[in-house]
Amino acid sequence: MSAKVDLSVTMCGLRFKNPFLLSSSPVSNSAEMVEQAYEHGWAGVCYKTLNSGSIPIIHPSPRMAGYDYEAKRLVGLQNVEQISDRPLKDNLADFRWLKKKYPDRPIIASIMGFSNDEWAYLAKAAEDNGADMLELNFSCPHMTVEGSGHKVGQAFALCEKFTETVKRTVKIPVLAKMTPNITDMTEPAIFSKKGGADGISAVNTFRGISSIGLDDLVPLPNVFGVGAMSGYSGAAIKPIALHFIAEMAQCPELGLPLSAMGGIETWVDALEYLLVGATTVQVTTGVIKYGYRIVEDMIEGLTDYLEAKGIRKASQLIGMALPNLKTTDHFDLARQGIAQYDLDQCVGCGQCYIVCRDAGGQALEWEAKKRRPKLVEEKCLSCMICSFICPVPSLISFKEKPKDWKRKPTRVMDEGMIGSVKLPQGGTT
Ligand SMILES: Cc1cc2nc3c(=O)[nH]c(=O)nc-3n(C[C@H](O)[C@H](O)[C@H](O)COP(=O)(O)O)c2cc1C
Repeated sequence: MSAKVDLSVTMCGLRFKNPFLLSSSPVSNSAEMVEQAYEHGWAGVCYKTLNSGSIPIIHPSPRMAGYDYEAKRLVGLQNVEQISDRPLKDNLADFRWLKKKYPDRPIIASIMGFSNDEWAYLAKAAEDNGADMLELNFSCPHMTVEGSGHKVGQAFALCEKFTETVKRTVKIPVLAKMTPNITDMTEPAIFSKKGGADGISAVNTFRGISSIGLDDLVPLPNVFGVGAMSGYSGAAIKPIALHFIAEMAQCPELGLPLSAMGGIETWVDALEYLLVGATTVQVTTGVIKYGYRIVEDMIEGLTDYLEAKGIRKASQLIGMALPNLKTTDHFDLARQGIAQYDLDQCVGCGQCYIVCRDAGGQALEWEAKKRRPKLVEEKCLSCMICSFICPVPSLISFKEKPKDWKRKPTRVMDEGMIGSVKLPQGGTT
């Protein structure tokens, strides 16, 4: 760790030595696992959601399916896992053990009650056994117990009611964990705040169907011939989760600290969440994919970034990108640009030509002998799709044009010309 920068953050009065936490899931299912994670550098844990034992919890088998995209494995993860199936007393014993061995690492106890009384009972049990903070799971999208999980998160008044119950019961800070299976996350977050929430965490998994078996026609995971809409997580959800966090960070009526998750695999992902207003970040699928060790890269990457930027504290990063995040009516539409090509780097694959022809402004001509594109600048739409398709990332860049520069309107076909046949002009009647 660099002496020049300070990675610690404070959330709801609790100090975390860095912003990186395990999120509530199989990666935080026992003290033995959390111990391993702590040894790699995780600053705290949001423990797998506790269950009171009032309803037996049985996980479907199998409970997960990986979602691959082309050759890239596990861009997403589909799961039907329930809350913890471990006895409450075992989980609480784990809290006491962890607190003794790692007194400086906050334990966030995730809880889910199946009645108002149960929310209170679990909250008190967690607090009495060493939890430093609670996270109320209003958000699991596939509970087999009817009326729980994201059904609570979608019934905003219940978020307020259960938060209020918990806040009346305990002294430790309380986060409400939001479901992304709604349109506007600020609404249930504000209801939770009315109930007394000290902070918001988000997102839980998105309800999804990532694949269907083409022989047996069963959505995955295939639980003995039955599939279900279930929780989707991992890298693929990051852009949508990031927007939810930013929206909450920009909501003056909410004004609560945020713990963010959704597709974090690298220090850059984590940093982006901090920049749009998160104070801590939590990870599950990234750990499933790469192991607890990824936190070492996160710590190193964030440290290097802070040093390179001359920023001393990670906490200064929180919300730093928000002043640049505005509604689209703030765009200066008088300023326009085009794509520019550094053809010295061109490998002659022709993909830019095809994408511009089929999805852009038809601004490229193809010089077949040289195997090079030729840009007709006035036709370039500056959509930049050519740059995303080009296999050489630095070949095509964006260049602003002078204000008086005019783009040529896209071609209007002459109705008289159909193929090579010239139809008579002047109507058909
Ligand atoms: C297999 C699995 C089990 C999960 N179990 C819980 C849970 O018990 N409680 C909870 O609040 N979130 C649970 N989650 C959601 C994660 O904590 C997290 O919100 C979500 O996966 C998004 O983060 P990620 O993209 O880093 O995985 C679970 C996620 C997965 C993949």
